[in-house]
Amino acid sequence: MSVLNTINKDNLPKHLAIIMDGNGRWAKQQGLLRTIGHENGTKSVRITIENCAKLGIENLTLYAFSTENWNRPKLEVETLMKLLIKSLQKELITLQNNNIRLNAIGNLDMMPKSAQKELLEVMEKTKNNTQMTLTLALSYGSREEIVSAVKKIADKVKNNIISIDSIDDSIINKHLYTQNLPDVDLLIRTSGEHRISNFLLWQIAYAELFFSEVMWPDFREEHLYEALISYQKRERRFGKTSEQIK
Ligand code: FPP
Repeated sequence: MSVLNTINKDNLPKHLAIIMDGNGRWAKQQGLLRTIGHENGTKSVRITIENCAKLGIENLTLYAFSTENWNRPKLEVETLMKLLIKSLQKELITLQNNNIRLNAIGNLDMMPKSAQKELLEVMEKTKNNTQMTLTLALSYGSREEIVSAVKKIADKVKNNIISIDSIDDSIINKHLYTQNLPDVDLLIRTSGEHRISNFLLWQIAYAELFFSEVMWPDFREEHLYEALISYQKRERRFGKTSEQIK
């Protein structure tokens, strides 16, 4: 029996999020420029998107560029932006063929105008696709997202649109960039690092975490399946007892 057949299609994460880490180290290990690592990382992006859609995962969120990544060397930032634009142009066909809708979260105003334009175009062209929502986190930082949500809510309280007493989880959810996405069920981070790095802090409250030793440019279907199999073996109790779950 192939590994794929051991995955229970009725128990897939509804929302899978991935911290794609290790592009730079992958390149360094082979004496290559960091930017070559990112280039090879785009291949893993395409393969992972296709595999997730084929499996039936409804929401995939990829951490493509953090607010902190703006502090990287100028050449690296420029390469990442160029790779994003090139990938969006090249992979529109992949998104259409696999019935995938593109979404983006983050402080998108910070992105270069050319990247914003490409994102908007691909989002518009794929807006009616229904198999999977692919969300790219770009110029994204979770604390910034929460601060921005708090400001929007405070403004509504100030203008008597909502009362302080009505503020609950669902109100906060509605003011986050991820307002239309369910909570994360499974978070994968590659490259052997065991950190969250300011990614979806609110949304991973009950997520299962999977840390893969594989560097992102080497991440392939077998590594995705390994994470999903591990996820399916876990008992998600959401604070309840094991007996209550059964
Ligand atoms: C982390 O590796 C990766 C990134 C900061 C960027 C991820 C971008 C891509 C995979 C390519 C473009 C994305 C899309 C969506 C087309 P790192 O540079 O932090 O690696 P290191 O920790 O080994 O230095």
